[in-house]
Amino acid sequence: MVVQDCGSCHGLTMKGGLGAPITPAALAGRDPEGLAAIILDGIPGTAMPPWRPLISEDEALWIAEYLLKEKTE
Ligand code: HEC
Repeated sequence: MVVQDCGSCHGLTMKGGLGAPITPAALAGRDPEGLAAIILDGIPGTAMPPWRPLISEDEALWIAEYLLKEKTE
């Protein structure tokens, strides 16, 4: 789900495409709550869409933690 929905903009290896890279290296030092908030509400003025209508806060936190630790290659 993350790879398909997020990969359309962030690239299938999350190294960035239309969107910024969201690899563990690029996000190192970011806290999961902050990333979950970005995922839920998007980034105003950019192509990063809010996902709040589609996913719960728990799911956003899960994705944030997944992005922080997953090796995508
Ligand atoms: C319609 C295209 C699009 C989709 C789909 C998308 N993003 Fe993004 N995302 C962006 C763009 C563009 C940015 C960079 C915004 C900017 O210029 O700061 C971004 C930024 C981010 C950031 C912040 C990166 C940083 O360094 O601050 C995170 C985290 C993120 N996206 C996660 C996700 C996740 C998780 C998904 C899937 C649920 C997703 N995105 C789906 C376009 C998208």
